[in-house]
Amino acid sequence: MIITVDGPAASGKGTLARLLAAEYGLAHLDTGLLYRAISKRLLDTGDDPSNEVTAVAAARTLDLGDIESNGLRSEAIGEAASLVASIPAVRAELVKLQQEFARRPGGTVLDGRDTGTVICPEADVKLFVTASVWERARRRHAELVERGEAISLEEVTADVERRDYRDRNRSASPLQQAPGAYLLDTSNLSIDSAFAKAKAFISKHLG
Ligand code: DC
Repeated sequence: MIITVDGPAASGKGTLARLLAAEYGLAHLDTGLLYRAISKRLLDTGDDPSNEVTAVAAARTLDLGDIESNGLRSEAIGEAASLVASIPAVRAELVKLQQEFARRPGGTVLDGRDTGTVICPEADVKLFVTASVWERARRRHAELVERGEAISLEEVTADVERRDYRDRNRSASPLQQAPGAYLLDTSNLSIDSAFAKAKAFISKHLG
């Protein structure tokens, strides 16, 4: 079984994907970490995340071990990841790696922006998780403050809006709801309720 969970930043898709993986005994890949790992490498070496040549070189040598490193969740890396992710040649380099992961025996859950549209259009179950900009900024801000980042809610809101715009309007694999994907708006839902709704959809969908 392959489940894809796409949606904008801080929509709750990562948490939901992790819970679904545990519930159904599936391997989980947070595909955003691939773009974040590339960005970290570029920032560490002082390279520009918008430079196609260095970004593609970093993507070419990326392996899944790189995404286990801590420190990929910072706001600076997220911002650079959104630039890296808008380079079509970088995305093309990462397709095979993600598709190989998706086809692992035993089943998988992938979360990201294009997992149900481009990476696994053949997925058995597709979810599109969203929430209002304000709620997503509030969640992301709380997460960052807990990790010790000094950043205001206004800055996080502006970052979330800028990243949404870039993710939805880029030419290569823009963020969009896949045909047949179940739309789950988590603005007013607890994690438990969102998880329950996703499970109800999956049981009904798979009959
Ligand atoms: O979900 P995230 O914040 O970890 O993602 C970081 C950036 O990577 C985000 O701005 C969009 C991009 N991304 C993407 O373009 N495609 C994916 N499948 C996953 C993430």
